[in-house]
Amino acid sequence: MSQSTIEIKRTQHSRLNEIDFDNLTFGEQFSDHMLEVRFSDGRWHEPQILPYGQIPMYPAVSTLHYGQAVFEGMKAFRYESDKVNIFRIEKHYDRFRRSCERVCIPEVPEEVFKEGMVELVRTDREWVPRNKYKSLYIRPIVFATDQTLGLRASRNYRFYIICSPVGNYYSEGIKPIRLTTMPKYVRAVLGGVGDVKVPGNYAASLQPTTKAQHMGYTQVLWLDAVEHRFVEEVGSMNIFFVIGDTLVTPPLNGSILPGITRNSILELAKAEGLKYEERPVSIEQLVSLHNKAQVKEIFGAGTAAVISPVGLIHHEEYEITIAADEMGPVARWFYDKITGIQHGEVAAPDSWCTVI
Ligand code: COI
Repeated sequence: MSQSTIEIKRTQHSRLNEIDFDNLTFGEQFSDHMLEVRFSDGRWHEPQILPYGQIPMYPAVSTLHYGQAVFEGMKAFRYESDKVNIFRIEKHYDRFRRSCERVCIPEVPEEVFKEGMVELVRTDREWVPRNKYKSLYIRPIVFATDQTLGLRASRNYRFYIICSPVGNYYSEGIKPIRLTTMPKYVRAVLGGVGDVKVPGNYAASLQPTTKAQHMGYTQVLWLDAVEHRFVEEVGSMNIFFVIGDTLVTPPLNGSILPGITRNSILELAKAEGLKYEERPVSIEQLVSLHNKAQVKEIFGAGTAAVISPVGLIHHEEYEITIAADEMGPVARWFYDKITGIQHGEVAAPDSWCTVI
């Protein structure tokens, strides 16, 4: 990447030494700087790196009313050598661009997204944790800023990138989590926005997830919106099963988010010659396979969650339990491989790592 010309206004009051890097939670502390780019008069303007802080906004901005916004979730990792790696920037940009297109947000140019992110992470590189199980979570977000209550695509937007040093996403750490189906609710419908990263998908999941948590489960396992039978995803991650000796995950049917960690797992499985299938899995089939002791492992995969073993799926009167209090061997293999690549300990496929 050529020398950046992005203007940087550095903070005079770094908060770095207020952070307890040994006790990081997920997404509650933010690094010193943020990237800001404004869109008006039909074009994106010059990016700027500014001190992280409040952003001025009127109560009438259309995002607040109609949710015309898109975000991404990415991570940067520190190598033993002290270099910093942003993981799969191109794949994330592709999804970001597709998400923007779906909700009529003008495409943020690829070089603005990539160069802006690299410069921001370079500026805040001391915020990238030194511990292998921690990372700097990167959150690009673009939203409409027209002041209007009329329902139409905005003419003005702002794109930000903010960063947050993070530990585990789930309070269980990498211990197995508990899922339940909620057949009365759906996450996404075909033709809707389930396959893009828009905030409304997450807002819609809050009520059923809160109910699931009151029932003692960590998250909802979403089923398809038509038959309420086919397993889709978990909302914060995609889902994988080890059935017999085959890794199985639901296909990207148009209502499932195409996760970058999901894609990484499938590419690694292919490269390693492991047996894997992208195929529909109904919850009844899963119960029946479990009764025949065919379901060996279940795990979720996502940027925030990395790889998270599932110890139990509750569905109506059934419980699918995986009797282990750690990751199974298949989940562990992918976890070690992916975190190894992220931390520069294992060779990465081309273009997976942007090293700063
Ligand atoms: C991510 O995994 O990056 C996400 O955006 C999911 C979010 C619920 C934290």
